[in-house]
Amino acid sequence: MITDFNLQILIEPLLHWFAGHARVLPWREEPTPYRVWVSEIMLQQTRVEAVKPYFERFTKRLPDVEALAECPEDELLKLWEGLGYYNRVRNMQKAAVQVMEEYGGKLPADYEKLLKLKGIGSYTAGAIASIAYQIPVPAVDGNVFRILTRVSADDTDIMKPSFRSLLEKELREVMQGMEMPGAFNQALMELGATVCVPNGAPLCEQCPWNRLCLARKEGRIAELPVRTKA
Ligand code: ADE
Repeated sequence: MITDFNLQILIEPLLHWFAGHARVLPWREEPTPYRVWVSEIMLQQTRVEAVKPYFERFTKRLPDVEALAECPEDELLKLWEGLGYYNRVRNMQKAAVQVMEEYGGKLPADYEKLLKLKGIGSYTAGAIASIAYQIPVPAVDGNVFRILTRVSADDTDIMKPSFRSLLEKELREVMQGMEMPGAFNQALMELGATVCVPNGAPLCEQCPWNRLCLARKEGRIAELPVRTKA
């Protein structure tokens, strides 16, 4: 169970691994709040490799919140063509208008305020706050659910909303006072995306947690995470 597991022991090996294995990604080179926001919304529906060219084109044409807020809808949808789920970009524009009106065009450096913006949930608010502003709050996506349920051999159904809250609470506690919360959150996602992959065979030989991993020890990697069909 995740509640019985000491998450603290994961931090140092994870950050050490990430320092040597972080992929070079366009939004990482210049992680402004706006660029982190755009990248995270795009990444919610599409794989990293596919997102790169869309991200470059989108941020070149719309380099800041103001440009996004003012972009004509037909052009906005054209920039999103191929990514699908058009409501995401429509919501982003509504949020951009909100940010212009309420915060003078600057995304707030405040998790709760970010959460109130259209289309921004706990994951995206956490990603922007931690990666762009170094605020120690978690950003739990599917990768994070997978690697943390595996390392702690927790077979709770990850579709239960209470499990997300529990995980966020546990992470918030270990992140207290952390100097690099953005690197920590990105390292969790990166480990899930590149090593502790879903289905098939995770690359345990390359994992900085392989000697700590309870699912590996118990031969239960393929069973985790547990997820009911929606
Ligand atoms: N997937 C979604 N956001 C990501 C990020 N910031 N780093 C790595 N993988 C991701």
